[in-house]
Amino acid sequence: MCGIFAYLNFCTPKKRHEIIEILLQGLRRMEYRGYDSAGIAIDSSNDVKHPFEEISVLRKVGKVDALEAYIHERDDIDSNMMYQFHCGIAHTRWATHGSPNDVNSHPHRSSDSNDFVVVHNGIITNYREIKEYLQKKGYSFESETDTEVIAKLIHHIHERYPNFGFRQLVETTIQQLEGAFALAFKSRLFPNQLVASRRGSPLLVGIKSASRLSTDDHLTVNFSTARNVLSSYCGEESFCDSPTTSDVFNISLANMSLTSSVASPSRIDKNLREGTRGIRPFDSSKNFEAEYFFASDASAIIEHTKQVLYLEDDDVAVVERGLLSIHRIKRHDDPSSQTREVQQLNMELQQIMRGDFKTFMQKEIFEQPESVINTMRGRVLPDGRVVLGGIKEYLKDIKRCRRLILVACGTSYNSAIACRQVMEELTELPVVLELASDFLDRETPIFRDDVCFFISQSGETADTLNALRYCKPRGALLIGVTNTVGSSICRESHCGIHINAGPEIGVASTKAYTSQIISVIMFALTVGDDRISLRERRIDIINELGKISNHIQTVLELDDEVKLIAKQVYQEKSLLVMGRGYNFATCLEGALKIKELSYMHCEGIMSGELKHGPLAMVDENLSIVMVICSDHVYKKSLNALQQVLARKGRPIIIADENVPTKDLDGIQHILRVPKTVDCLQNILTVIPLQLLSYHIAELNGLNVDRPRNLAKSVTVE
Ligand code: F6R
Repeated sequence: MCGIFAYLNFCTPKKRHEIIEILLQGLRRMEYRGYDSAGIAIDSSNDVKHPFEEISVLRKVGKVDALEAYIHERDDIDSNMMYQFHCGIAHTRWATHGSPNDVNSHPHRSSDSNDFVVVHNGIITNYREIKEYLQKKGYSFESETDTEVIAKLIHHIHERYPNFGFRQLVETTIQQLEGAFALAFKSRLFPNQLVASRRGSPLLVGIKSASRLSTDDHLTVNFSTARNVLSSYCGEESFCDSPTTSDVFNISLANMSLTSSVASPSRIDKNLREGTRGIRPFDSSKNFEAEYFFASDASAIIEHTKQVLYLEDDDVAVVERGLLSIHRIKRHDDPSSQTREVQQLNMELQQIMRGDFKTFMQKEIFEQPESVINTMRGRVLPDGRVVLGGIKEYLKDIKRCRRLILVACGTSYNSAIACRQVMEELTELPVVLELASDFLDRETPIFRDDVCFFISQSGETADTLNALRYCKPRGALLIGVTNTVGSSICRESHCGIHINAGPEIGVASTKAYTSQIISVIMFALTVGDDRISLRERRIDIINELGKISNHIQTVLELDDEVKLIAKQVYQEKSLLVMGRGYNFATCLEGALKIKELSYMHCEGIMSGELKHGPLAMVDENLSIVMVICSDHVYKKSLNALQQVLARKGRPIIIADENVPTKDLDGIQHILRVPKTVDCLQNILTVIPLQLLSYHIAELNGLNVDRPRNLAKSVTVE
């Protein structure tokens, strides 16, 4: 859903081509968020005496490689020009307003002279009104995007209030915006300054400095009184009175002398937490150098630094004279804290690289034996206990709750379907599943004694996040189940389970799905741990969790067989995937994978519903996959098979190894997976479908990691 990236070096000399490479590399890491077009803005004057006089906006439809080729073709920018300080911004786009083309690409600009340029992730819902207002003021627009109004609006505010600093201009601008955004601004008028802000879309700052920061390091937030607000951007008299001076009541690092600081984030005493604001002495003997990386997600930052700071909604982050400071407009009901802590990223670059695999998706499918172990590490204990540190303190409340509500979208929603039955069984509580978008559309009643789960790989999906925000004021307990530490869902929920699957880069979710299932099942085991009647069942599930990694390994050995099947079906127009019970989720998830990767019509069908409609489609021409396992619905699954065979259907079967061969007599393709306990079986049956979707897409010559029209992290509704 678009990725933004910005890089600012301060006293760390860099040649222009190095700066460009850092920007492009940041975009490459985030390309999975959108790949319709890419662009950067850099200082482009070749005059060493006036290096910041011009800004070039370089943008190209297509992937980052296309942008790179375009930049290399240009001979008007001296690539060896050296910068002591420089601010560059960059963007990779997933089109929402306006088709993918060069002009709609970001960065967007205020005017031909590029006084202000901006990159944006999100959607501005009131852009039409702002655009009309600005058009009346004489502005003309070159693109169809919502983002361009931001660039023009900041320019307009600057014209009106020429004394405003860059931060004040951005603060004023974002106060006029409705919708979701993460923004990074650069300006020809404020060289070497970077101002960024977010509301609803993720944004974090990586800090690379001479000294290593510790987790005790904070940045205090500087609060300003509300000021200089546009009263009505449609009216002729558009501004309130002149701005009042900013009411900064914390010490702003930006006001400190450069020579006395060793690193830009303030080293605030621990006793800050107790209410005393103080600053640790700085080591004045060291030279101050810093590099800052702003990005929509950590994968673009990790190769430069592991020290990051997550911005909160409505934070305005400023880098000026090499110093980072964070500002907010003071509001009475502001729930945000007064500090932003420096956190250490615990992922390695290697984890987000492809290694020997052809695609990220393939790598992620084959990582599952390991990722499921990481999900269980330290949680499923050798003595048979399951301990989830993130929810421990809330267990009493959870056990007393009225119902468990699982809210999610797409694959994450399918993982909720996969776990529903075992969750009901082990917790003995009603379990309700909700697609986040529909949950919001219905304004579903939520009560104080509800426990709501928000399952999301990215932790940023707008529908799921909005559902969380809808539940919060209604007093429910909110549990985040995400794969992204520091994500909005992590931060805004009361407690949570981190699924620890490792970074998932391929747009189609695979390893996160299996780790989500395991996480929710671990939750159910934790809640049901004091029920004597469930003892045997728990032991059975826990034992099988111990074997699941090896079983996944065995399933992955089916890859060649799956590829042969893919060769038979890859040109089909349509495919059905049928199953029931615990394996219904596998059918939905398998069908979703095939649809999104190969653009083939594919439907997951509950085989109990076969005779209520879908059977009409079945004949010798239709390709069907059936999931049949030796569980409590086995006989019913066999009935469905007979109904399909009676209509001359030629199903491909995914079966566990305990299904008798005689029951599958005459079937041409049978993919056998190991037998495990019923509630974990769907982890093993979904993997052949992940592989099938992968091979179908490959055989059709499609981009497996970046299917058309999709993005990894859907941060708009
Ligand atoms: C499908 C897929 C999507 C996501 C959905 C929710 O492969 O990846 O359906 O599952 O967009 O995303 P998260 O889990 O990040 O909330």
